[in-house]
Amino acid sequence: MKTTWRPTWALIHRLYVKTTSRIVHQPKLGFQTSPFQTSLFVLSSAEQEQGGSSKSRQSHAFASFATVAATVFGTIYMTCPILKADDETLEPPKYPWNHSGPLSSFDAAAIRRGHQVYKNVCASCHSMESIAYRNLVGVAYTEEEAKAMAEEEEVEDGPNEEGEMFTRPGRLSDHFPAPYPNDEAARYANNGALPPDLSYIVKARHHGEDYIFALLTGYRDPPEGVNIREGLNYNPYFVGGQIAMARALYDGAVEFDDGTPATTSQMAKDVVTFLAWASDPKQDERKKMGVQAIFTLSVLYIFALYTKRLRWSLYKSRRIEFRDM
Ligand code: HEC
Repeated sequence: MKTTWRPTWALIHRLYVKTTSRIVHQPKLGFQTSPFQTSLFVLSSAEQEQGGSSKSRQSHAFASFATVAATVFGTIYMTCPILKADDETLEPPKYPWNHSGPLSSFDAAAIRRGHQVYKNVCASCHSMESIAYRNLVGVAYTEEEAKAMAEEEEVEDGPNEEGEMFTRPGRLSDHFPAPYPNDEAARYANNGALPPDLSYIVKARHHGEDYIFALLTGYRDPPEGVNIREGLNYNPYFVGGQIAMARALYDGAVEFDDGTPATTSQMAKDVVTFLAWASDPKQDERKKMGVQAIFTLSVLYIFALYTKRLRWSLYKSRRIEFRDM
């Protein structure tokens, strides 16, 4: 008959007890022991000298096993912060984003201002391939505004009947224009570093919005003893502390059309809100649907409870009698 072997917890436990108790027994049997086993033995030999039962020997073996494990993991754990400090990377603080609560929606005015910052500052280096002008309609701009904005761009289209490519004014369905024709050109213009596409950047980095805000506002003089390679800039929030992107935001770099003072932190907050929207445009709709679903299900739940009680009342309240016939 074919038998299959399955490692149940009881089996694993028995195996564990067997192996640990054998380590303790080995010196008695005169086997060669490795230094590791000897140290295990030394740790548990005190108990043996007192003539402990096999049970307490096992528990001692376990104690020594735990001691060694704790030492190894403790050492690794203790050295981790040192490794981190060596990295010279700061963890970004937590910021209270308007849109981060379970019931909160994006700040539309901030998205509009953020788009202005992106268009006037970041778009000279960063593409946003996944966003089309039509996505902005009803979010941050009216249809006319978005159309006018698209028409300002010259878009290559074609081929026409003669097989030639031609340029035409942009349409709502066009995506944001890329600053460079390809990655090589982008690297060449930026000292070899590739400015990443910003469409999903908030989702693509740990700490999302918090990280990008901290990065944009985190430029400062390097501390004593930190050498910055040529063409790089000190920024403690970037991995390794040295980033190829120079500080992009300075007070007054753009003029907001709603009159908000364009300070560095205001622009950073707005552009990050815009980028957060770009990487998750359906967020507001999703949260709204969540609320609707929870409400609908709660109403249905009440009906279900009532129906269940009604249907079961017969069975719950019946009495069965057995009588001699
Ligand atoms: C002069 C060109 C330039 C401008 C302007 C610019 N960037 Fe960058 N950016 C870069 C380059 C180059 C990198 C790649 C840096 C690296 O890998 O060291 C980068 C990287 C980034 C990153 C990714 C950092 C990471 O963790 O990998 C973000 C986010 C970013 N930029 C956001 C922005 C925003 C937002 C703006 C506008 C306010 C902006 N950038 C303006 C050139 C630019």
